[in-house]
Formats: sequence, structure tokens, C-alpha cells
Amino acid sequence: MNEQQRKQMSQIREANPADVKSDQDNLSRIKEKKSEDFIKYFETSYQPPSLKDAKKRGKEDVEVHYDFTIPEEMIGLGSGKKFMIRTYGCQMNEHDTEIMAGILEEMGYVSTNETKEADIILLNTCAIRENAENKVFGEIGHLKPLKTENPDLIIGVCGCMSQEESVVNRILQKHQFVDLIFGTHNIHRLPQLVKEAMFGKEMVVEVWSKEGDIIENLPRSRKGKIKAWVNIMYGCDKFCTYCIVPYTRGKERSRLPEDIIQEVRHLAAQGYKEITLLGQNVNAYGKDLDMDYGLGDLMNDIHKIDIPRVRFTTSHPRDFDDRLIEVLAQGGNLLDHIHLPVQSGSSDVLKIMARKYTRESYLELVDKIRTAMPNATLTTDIIVGFPNETDEQFEETLSLVEEVGFEAAYTFIYSPREGTPAARMKDNVPMEVKKERLQRLNELVNKQSAEAMKKYEGQIVDVLVEGESKKNPDVLAGYTERNKLVNFIGPKSAIGEIVKVKINNAKTWSLDGEMVEEAAEVN
Ligand code: SAH
Ligand code: SF4
Ligand code: F3S
Repeated sequence: MNEQQRKQMSQIREANPADVKSDQDNLSRIKEKKSEDFIKYFETSYQPPSLKDAKKRGKEDVEVHYDFTIPEEMIGLGSGKKFMIRTYGCQMNEHDTEIMAGILEEMGYVSTNETKEADIILLNTCAIRENAENKVFGEIGHLKPLKTENPDLIIGVCGCMSQEESVVNRILQKHQFVDLIFGTHNIHRLPQLVKEAMFGKEMVVEVWSKEGDIIENLPRSRKGKIKAWVNIMYGCDKFCTYCIVPYTRGKERSRLPEDIIQEVRHLAAQGYKEITLLGQNVNAYGKDLDMDYGLGDLMNDIHKIDIPRVRFTTSHPRDFDDRLIEVLAQGGNLLDHIHLPVQSGSSDVLKIMARKYTRESYLELVDKIRTAMPNATLTTDIIVGFPNETDEQFEETLSLVEEVGFEAAYTFIYSPREGTPAARMKDNVPMEVKKERLQRLNELVNKQSAEAMKKYEGQIVDVLVEGESKKNPDVLAGYTERNKLVNFIGPKSAIGEIVKVKINNAKTWSLDGEMVEEAAEVN
């Protein structure tokens, strides 16, 4: 823990055990008094999170801790109580939710999907675009009546939005019924924070602007038994000019290879069929470790583990090296689907985005991948309407999408994020133009997806069956190695297995088929 974190922590009032009983008796009265108390508290000692501080990359080593425990007195705090966590962000956020659920379950809480039943509600937020933030503020508003009905309910806001001072200030000013705000580097402090919120008088705010260490042995309550996420690194040092993530998630920190491999082995032994290695920029894996070991080496080691499917996300084109391509080309459990965000097809726009590659170098990389893995499916992320993007520059994006032949793409209208360099740029592109561009791009992506799907008609594919289809319980649903959704008729016993399915009909975003054989041969 660094000096600043120590300082911030000391600002959080430790509940005095002697106060606890009387606090409990008087909880409702105290909660009414809360606003007076906390105004005093925030006027005297509160320090808001700071995106500016978050930007500084320290040289100090990241320590790995293996000694996480939940203090004895906090283990029973949740017994007979229920929790609900809403997740708004990316896979990493989803995985953080699994960790927080794991911690709460160890404290005795059980999960519920009903807001009315919950004793603690956490909103695990995302700051990537403005609409993600608006959704969260909408939800905070909806929760207010629940709090009025049940003053003992704990409402917490965590995730990437909590790292932004503007968000914390807005909650402090306008949503004082929120009990708890904590950041992405404070998840392991959840037991202490919940205790604080339960017995303390003020809103509990603990957001470390600088990243913490790596905590290895946090509990996890994984969402399913078939697919699992595995963090391989945290943070991002790329600082693309439009992006808030390097501020909300801190500097790049890689987990040690042996810890990752042990987790994957454990998942394999538990019967998981697919893992996804997670990081904001997984290709930077290992750069911060003092060893000559990168993502290619890690994938090569994981390749030898007996787990049928291994994916990874998200790749940055800049760090995608030959070693990784060579390892991926071995196939086996390493799947030939690569998600490779391009953001724009114009070298000029890429430059202002600080992506540090050009249209040409991206296309060269795609060529290399295609040469080594001729059947690889490529998907991408694209931003339209970056400040001052011209029609010609947008056309370059369309032509790149065609040239690469992406089979799917997440497409976004640029959203200014306070504190990032792009948010300070003047922008001459009207919103209607941005919307039109998005629509044209989506039409092209849909067309390419439909064409790729069409090729599967009549073919037999391996499908990892995840469960019943959302629309029809008589139909099963799962994904192919290249991540195509398949709906098919088959026995319920196929759930959790990899089976062969014959594709009869292709749609734009999914395939329909029938099972032709029980479990498929798995290498
Ligand atoms: N680390 C990943 C991206 C994480 S965010 C990567 O570099 O690929 C997921 C996607 O959100 C990005 O790829 C980008 O397309 C989009 N995005 C990020 N910031 C954005 C912003 N300010 N406005 C619109 N889209 C944004
Ligand atoms: Fe954001 Fe760029 Fe980092 Fe991706 S690589 S998280 S887009 S800064
Ligand atoms: Fe959103 Fe944070 Fe993920 S901003 S995309 S939840 S890293």
C-alpha cells in the first residue's frame, strides 16, 4: 500500500466495536441524521478520487499477495441476508462481480435477483461511454424508494464510474441515500466497507486513485460451470486519446504465469470446458514482469492443459507479435477466432487516437495472421464520429472493414470522456452525421456477418452447449469455436458438452441446426 492509499484509508472511520450495538439499535435514527454528519465529514477530511493522479504511472513494484482473508467478525455479517449485484461493463467488470459475489457469499450472504429482497445492492458500473453512465444514474434514482422503505438496505456504487471524481461528487450532492462508493482497486476491502456502511454514520467512500497490488486468492462465485474468465493482467498503459480505462483501471500489472496456470488447471479439473483469458490489452502481458515471457509463451503453456477451449480478449494490434501467431497456429484448444479492435480505417484518425499503428500495418498484421491461420475469423471494435472525422476518413473505415472481411464488429459513436485528451478537442461533426455513419457501418457489418453465416449451411460444427435458448426452452443454444451462436434441437443431456451440429439455416447473427452426434471428439 502506498502513502496516498494509507492516507485515504485512515480517513475512513473504523467502526468502534463498542458502538456497534447501540448503532444497530439506532440505525434508522442515525440514517436520518446521516446527511448532517456526512456534510461535516466531507467538509473536513474527504479527498475525492482523482483522474489526474490515476494517470501517473509509478515505478514502484507491484506486490502479489496470497493472504487475503475475511476477518472472523465479518464472516457472519451477511447471515440470513441477501445481495444483488448489477453489472454494466465489460468482461472484466463481470468477473469483478463474480469476485464480489464470492466475498459476499463467504460473509454469509446469498444472492437474489429481486431488488425488493436484497439487503445489499451493488451497482458495478462502466465509464466507457456516456450512455453507460446515464443508465447507472437512472438506476440509482429507481433505487431511492427501496431505501425509503427499508433504511437498512445498503446501496453501493463500484466499478469504473467510482474512479471518476465528477461521478463521486454528483452522488455526494444528489444521491445521499447511497451508502457506499468504492473503486476498482478496493474490491478486496469489501468486507470492511460493508461493515462500515452497516454501522457507520456517514456515506463510506473508498476509492484509491492509484492501483493497488495484485491480490491472488480472492474468492470467486463463477456464474456458470461451463465457461470461466481468468484475469491474466490488470490495467492499461496505452492511453488511447478517447479512452477512460487507463485512468479507471490503473497501470498494466501482469499476474505471474504460475498463478494463471494453476487457476486454469483447477478450472479444467472442475470440468470447465472453456476459459477466456482477460485483460484490457492482453498482448502486453508479461511486459511488466522481469522475465522473458509474453502472451505467446503463456498461451503455449495453457495449450498443454486439458481444457477444450481457450479464448483471450482483448488484443491490441500494436503488441500482437510473431511468437503469439506461431503459438496460435498450433490450434488444438487455441481457437482460431481473434478479436482485434481496429477503431478506424484511417491512418490519420488512428494517429490522433494514439493507437500507434497505421491502416497499412494493421492490414499487414491481418495478412500474417491469415497466412498462419487461413481459417481464422476476425472480429473488431470500431468508433465512428471521432472529433473532426471527415467523410473520406469514414469511407476508409468502410473499405477496411470490407478488405479484412470482419465477421462481426462492436460499433460505437465516439463519446467524449472527461479527463481524456480527445474530450478537449473541438469537434465539427454533427451528431446526425455520426448517426448516419454508424448506420452505414452497421449495414455493412450485418451484410458481412450474414455472408459468413451462409457458408455454414450444410456444414457440421462443434458446439459447446450452454443451455436452453432464451426464446424457446425446447431448443438448445451454444457457440462454435469461432464464436457463432447456434440454436438446435437436441437432448438436455447435451448441456455442458461439445456436440456435433448440422447447420440447416443461417441467419444474420446465428445459425439453426440439429444435433447429429452425442459428444464430439475433444483433443
Ligand atoms: N482494451 C480494449 C477496449 C476496451 S473498451 C481495446 O483496446 O480494444 C471497448 C471498446 O469501446 C473499444 O475498443 C472502443 O471501440 C470503445 N470505446 C472506448 N472508449 C470509447 C469512447 N470514448 N467512445 C466510444 N467508444 C469507445
Ligand atoms: Fe482503452 Fe486503448 Fe487501453 Fe483499449 S488499449 S483499454 S482502447 S486505452
Ligand atoms: Fe467499462 Fe471499466 Fe470495462 S470503463 S469497459 S467496465 S474496464
